[in-house]
Amino acid sequence: MSLAAHGSPSDAPIFRFAKRMRGLKASAIREILKVTEMPDVISFAGGLPAPELFPVAQFAEACREVLETQGAAALQYSVTEGYAPLREWIAAYLHETIGVECTADQVLIISGSQQGLDLVGKVLLDPGDTVIIENPAYLGAIQAFDAYEARYVNVGTDDSGILIDDLERVLREGALGRKRPKFLYLVPNFQNPSGITLTLVRRKAVIELCARYGIPIFEDDPYGRLRYSGEHIPSITALAGGTSCIYMSTVSKTIAPGMRVAWLVVGDRGLFEKIVPAKQAADLHTSSFTQRAVYAYARRPGQVEAHVKEMLPVYARRRDVMLAALAQHMPDGTTWTRPDGGLFLWARMPGGVDTQELLTHAAREKVAFVPGAPFWVNCDVRDTMRLNFSNGSAEQIETGIARLGKLVKAALDGTL
Ligand SMILES: Cc1ncc(COP(=O)(O)O)c(C=O)c1O
Repeated sequence: MSLAAHGSPSDAPIFRFAKRMRGLKASAIREILKVTEMPDVISFAGGLPAPELFPVAQFAEACREVLETQGAAALQYSVTEGYAPLREWIAAYLHETIGVECTADQVLIISGSQQGLDLVGKVLLDPGDTVIIENPAYLGAIQAFDAYEARYVNVGTDDSGILIDDLERVLREGALGRKRPKFLYLVPNFQNPSGITLTLVRRKAVIELCARYGIPIFEDDPYGRLRYSGEHIPSITALAGGTSCIYMSTVSKTIAPGMRVAWLVVGDRGLFEKIVPAKQAADLHTSSFTQRAVYAYARRPGQVEAHVKEMLPVYARRRDVMLAALAQHMPDGTTWTRPDGGLFLWARMPGGVDTQELLTHAAREKVAFVPGAPFWVNCDVRDTMRLNFSNGSAEQIETGIARLGKLVKAALDGTL
């Protein structure tokens, strides 16, 4: 018997959604990104690392080691907080690489940073609660917090990150309002989507202001290790010390996203102890096997650093090729960011070209990008786009940007 034969006897839908699903849209861009799957399309749309750089052979070795030496434990259920040696390794790694001081028992292993966004939303947000967010903001965070019916107050940004005056205004108004914002969510390094990095001076100002108004900071840092130019800037959590920050990072961009291994560093014990059962309810624990495989890979002295070192010049060159191609092919009046790291840059079209509409014509030129509109919070901005530079070869980037330039010129000429 087919499934259809069991439909509802009346016209009423048999599945009645929870109220919170009203605000939850399928990713606004998924539909239009179908163009990226067409043959011969050069896509700048995904946030994908370069697959040819994945350490496949080293992982094969790590997986074999795990199965041969601790196979039963790796295939068994395990504790929600995560695999103890991996938590220890992460605490030491954060100390050595970015100066975040924490103990292993403040590290919670999660199934990708995306789960961390969901868990923090689950634990901290009641319907209608406010999150302070930079504008434009990471779409995945908006989606995660939307599920808990968050509202947003947005803080404007420029090439140095969020605007401190604007943040101060938002915090002051929040303090006067009926409900204080629950937290500030920030991606300070090579932000997704803009590629912009928050300067040291502003980081300190953000910390000072949030402390003054009693607002915690949720620092999402998937890209911090991928710096191609400029000086390392200490993380907000490292600068702030104490327990008023949540720090999050992942193996997705430095090792491999398919592992789905990331971590939250939560200094506040009360918060940590709420997030653990929230995670337990979601998935019991992150895969015992992948946690051990990541640990077996990472614990080999120098292996992670050697891999990061190998990635940096490849991505730096791709970024530079994209910047040069934009200068060569985009029409006058187009502007774009010049990121010091990460995977993306952010461009603004001249003449108010609507990038969502532009993408519907992109199949013809066989190029794809992410229209910027869904990244903007509480405002309708249509002339921006996110461009990923990590996933294609230099030749593809050069060809793709030439195609994009042609498309934008046609939009400006009215010949699309
Ligand atoms: C800012 C930001 N946070 C979180 C994520 C999700 O990363 P993960 O693969 O660890 O879930 C991404 C992925 O692109 C991201 O850009």
